[in-house]
Amino acid sequence: SEPGMIDSFGRRISYVRLSVTDRCDLRCRYCMAERMTFLPRRDILRLEEIVDLVSIFIARGVKRVRLTGGEPLVRRGIMDLVRTLGSRIGHGLDELTLTTNGTQLEKVAEGLREAGIKRINVSLDSRNPQRFAHITRRGALAPVLRGIATAQAAGLHVKINMVALKGLNDDEIADMLLWCGAQGHDLTLIETMPLGAVEDDRTEHYLPLDEVKRQLERSFSLRPSFQRTGGPARYWDVEGVDAKLGLITPLSQNFCAGCNRIRVAATGTVYGCLGHDQKVELRELLREGGRERVNAALDELLAGKPAGHNFHISAAAPAVGRHMSVTGG
Ligand code: GTP
Ligand code: 5AD
Ligand code: SF4
Repeated sequence: SEPGMIDSFGRRISYVRLSVTDRCDLRCRYCMAERMTFLPRRDILRLEEIVDLVSIFIARGVKRVRLTGGEPLVRRGIMDLVRTLGSRIGHGLDELTLTTNGTQLEKVAEGLREAGIKRINVSLDSRNPQRFAHITRRGALAPVLRGIATAQAAGLHVKINMVALKGLNDDEIADMLLWCGAQGHDLTLIETMPLGAVEDDRTEHYLPLDEVKRQLERSFSLRPSFQRTGGPARYWDVEGVDAKLGLITPLSQNFCAGCNRIRVAATGTVYGCLGHDQKVELRELLREGGRERVNAALDELLAGKPAGHNFHISAAAPAVGRHMSVTGG
């Protein structure tokens, strides 16, 4: 029963991650399989339905919405959605943000800023062109770097997301931190999570970030930062470097007790946890059920929201069958 959204552990949900498409122009090895079956259009929420859903969330106390994918910028009409949701900033929403792979960023950066977005997160796992191509399987580095530069010039604060991968990019982490400092970006390192089947062996590439942190501390002096974004990262100030360092450690240091979020897949399926199948289906309710039934379904989701994920990087099978691209993290 409305208004606030509080789960059975007393956690208040004020943040929604909204995947606007399961599609992506890249195939990052830790994220997707080489061959992916994407959803047919009829199964995807229409833009108006997404807007209606966000209104319901706002009425229930959600303050921040992050658009994700797949790659959100490959969704047709995405900028119309961004402008419509942007008009709710200051009118219900505190913040609208976006997580992107950056391939299409150059042409939309200015539009994002005009819509009221202030910061974006851009995935960049390597600044070496060959490695970038290897990790993403179909990406080119140059357009992504141009996209990042254009976003910054447009006044967007850019945070770089780097999934730390043993043997693939671990020798580049310190360099990435220095580059981010020089460019004025923050850097968040992420532990690879076992979501969906991929060809790569995630166990082989898993790099615990406490180990990375110890390594970095040989060259940098790190101090806990007061920065809070309400996200899962813990932030560090780096002496002499003009960038915050964020560490997202679902495996080595679980942060689920402070969870404030739920995630909506492009189909209108809402998941209580990134690492569980617990869910409710909202698409048909949004199409013909009416607000009350949507709210009742959300209450059901909250009542069953799991205490946390149970990711184990050593397990043979991924903890959850769906890929990260279904819920955008
Ligand atoms: P801000 O803190 O708002 O900047 O966002 P963020 O870092 O949460 O967002 P982003 O989309 O950049 O996600 C970065 C990484 O955090 C991705 O790998 C997400 O999958 C992961 N992530 C986000 N939320 C959760 C969560 O609730 N649980 C876990 N385990 N990972 C999450
Ligand atoms: N584990 C950790 N991070 C992942 N991402 C995609 N798949 C995974 C995974 N299996 C990252 C992307 C992007 C963010 C939304 O999630 O690199 O930065
Ligand atoms: Fe696409 Fe992002 Fe997944 Fe890479 S991590 S395949 S860019 S959704």
